[in-house]
Amino acid sequence: MGTASDIKLIDENGLRIDGRSPTELRPLKIETDVLERADGSAFIEWGGNKILVAVYGPREAYPKHTQDIEKAVVKARYNMSAFSVDERKRPGPDRRSVEISKVISEALSAAVMVEQFPRAQIDVFIEVLQADAGTRIAGLTASSVALAAAGIPMRDMVVGCAAGKVDGKIVLDLGKEEDNFGQADLPMGILAKSGKIVLMQMDGDMSQEEFEQATALIMDATKRIYEIQREALAGKYRALALERSGE
Ligand code: CDP
Repeated sequence: MGTASDIKLIDENGLRIDGRSPTELRPLKIETDVLERADGSAFIEWGGNKILVAVYGPREAYPKHTQDIEKAVVKARYNMSAFSVDERKRPGPDRRSVEISKVISEALSAAVMVEQFPRAQIDVFIEVLQADAGTRIAGLTASSVALAAAGIPMRDMVVGCAAGKVDGKIVLDLGKEEDNFGQADLPMGILAKSGKIVLMQMDGDMSQEEFEQATALIMDATKRIYEIQREALAGKYRALALERSGE
C-alpha cells in the first residue's frame, strides 16, 4: 500500500479513477492452450495484467528427497519479467516472488487431487509479462485453468480475487493507482464450489466491518470469475470435440 496522498481515487458520483463502480471487476479474459509443449497452459488478461501459465506433470518428483510418498507436490513458480513493471525488475527470484510462489502452491494443492499421484510433482510456471496490481490473484486464477486444461484431476477450481480500501471505501479488484495510493488490499483465493478460502493475505488496515464487506464483495465476484474460467475451458473442449470429429 502506498502512502497517504492528495490523489482523489473516488469521485463525487462514487466512481473510481478508471470509471468503475465499487463492485465492478476490471476487464477479464482467459484463453487456454496457448503453448504447445506444456501439458496445460493459460493466458490471462486482467486489467493491465498479462500473465502466462504453463503446467507440466504430474511427473516423478526430482530430486527424490522432495517426493511425498502419499501425494503429489504442486510447485508453483511465480516470476515477474524484467519488463513487466515501470521500473525494470531485477531478474530472478526475490523475497516477494518466493512468498507469492508459496501461497499460490498451497492454494492450488487444496484443489488438485494430489492423493492420486504419490511421489509426483506438478509444476506450474507463472510468468508475469505485464503487471498492473493483483498479479498474484490473476496468476492463481489462470493457474487453476491451466491445471484443468492439462487434464489434472481437481476437486474444485481456485478463483483469485481481491478487494481493498480506497478513499475510506471498500471496493473490488484494486487497479494500479488504487493499489499505490489506497489504504488496504485483501487478495483471496477461494474454491469456487465449496467457498473454502485457500489464500488470504492483507496489506494495510481494515476494521472488522470493512473486512466483512470486502469478503462479501470477493465472494460475489468469485461466481463471475468462475464462469469466465469455465467458458475458457469449454472453448478448449469444444475445440477438442471438433478435432475428434475430423472437422
Ligand atoms: O501484484 P500483486 O498485487 O499480487 O502484488 P503486490 O506486491 O501488491 O504488487 C502490486 C503491484 O505493484 C504489482 O502488480 C505491480 O504492478 C507493482 N510492482 C512493481 O511495479 N514492481 C515490483 N517489483 C513489484 C510490484
